[in-house]
Amino acid sequence: MKFVWKNYCKKYIETVDSFLDNEAIKYTSCDGGFNAFYTYWHNELGESKFWCKVILIENEPIAVISLAKAPDNVFTIQEFIVSPKHRGKGYGSAILKELLICSNNIIGQDIIIAEAVIYPDNFASQKVFQKTGFIYAGAHPDGDALYYRYVKNECAKHYDILIDENNDPVQDPQPLKDYMDKWDGQLFIDKMKLDSTKNVLEIGVGTGRLAIRVAPYVKSFTGIDISYKTIERAKENLKLCNNVNLICDNFISAEFNCKFDVIYSSLTFMHIENKQTAIDKIASLLCNNGLFLLSIDKNQQKYIDIGVNRIEVYPDNPQDVTEYLKKAKLILVEQYETEFAHIFVARR
Ligand SMILES: C[S@@+](CC[C@H](N)C(=O)[O-])C[C@H]1O[C@@H](n2cnc3c(N)ncnc32)[C@H](O)[C@@H]1O
Repeated sequence: MKFVWKNYCKKYIETVDSFLDNEAIKYTSCDGGFNAFYTYWHNELGESKFWCKVILIENEPIAVISLAKAPDNVFTIQEFIVSPKHRGKGYGSAILKELLICSNNIIGQDIIIAEAVIYPDNFASQKVFQKTGFIYAGAHPDGDALYYRYVKNECAKHYDILIDENNDPVQDPQPLKDYMDKWDGQLFIDKMKLDSTKNVLEIGVGTGRLAIRVAPYVKSFTGIDISYKTIERAKENLKLCNNVNLICDNFISAEFNCKFDVIYSSLTFMHIENKQTAIDKIASLLCNNGLFLLSIDKNQQKYIDIGVNRIEVYPDNPQDVTEYLKKAKLILVEQYETEFAHIFVARR
């Protein structure tokens, strides 16, 4: 996690009150000081339904956030105040994003649905909440409040559940590992032309099934996955590799500050609805001459059912992928089939 999360307590009273400039007072219900607000809700709801956290970066408190849980398990973000000097720098959305993705670590609860009420003229907050995945859900009849709602990505929820059920391909017995190779396998890895100078990105890294065979041979390995619990498991599986950076985020909206020599993805593209956007982004993240390897599942079903869980997917087909690559100005250097997948090797 990027931020340090501490329970709000006496030692933060003064610092948090210093966040309450005119703007914060105007848009919150903390005109009697933050501690009065905190005390009221703490007494009202108790520790199992109310959380108040101070967020620190390099030991400096930069924001405070309070949440309440309703009986229907919907979480309300009651107050979220960033210190005046840290506003407008992207901290608000980064903090909110971390809370939603890592809620289990931060408040010990899975946040599936969250709501926020924002003043109509508080455009800065509306922007922060929208950037984090909250969607406008209507206005109060008086017009003095707007409702925003967040629903955890179905795919992230699905893969979190798989981890809860102890599914981890890295720990599978060899026959199951051999079966999974039918989507990619050693040939797919060999085509990456890995060596100790390469910076590599895997999209939808999962628990590290392929990463564990790639990371030891490269300069740096970055893996991104939308499921928090999956990334936590990947961290455990890859803990012996010290060149690994694992990010929990949606590849489509994640921000990267470097380029990669090799980007690959296997058994993941069926979860991505806007495939051209994804491939354009991949092209923009590749170094010149960099390689992109993609394995798409031959399965054309529109849903994945596992037990009682069902999620919608967006099946891929080779013709469309060829077009996406062309439009992204990537050169297709090889295309082949395995038993369960079509594989593309493209160069920037
Ligand atoms: C079937 S698993 C495959 C995992 C791994 N590639 C493998 O083959 O073992 C698909 C993974 O993609 C992740 N995923 C789906 N959509 C994603 C997105 N938009 N951004 C990042 N990860 C995503 C899921 O959380 C899941 O872990």
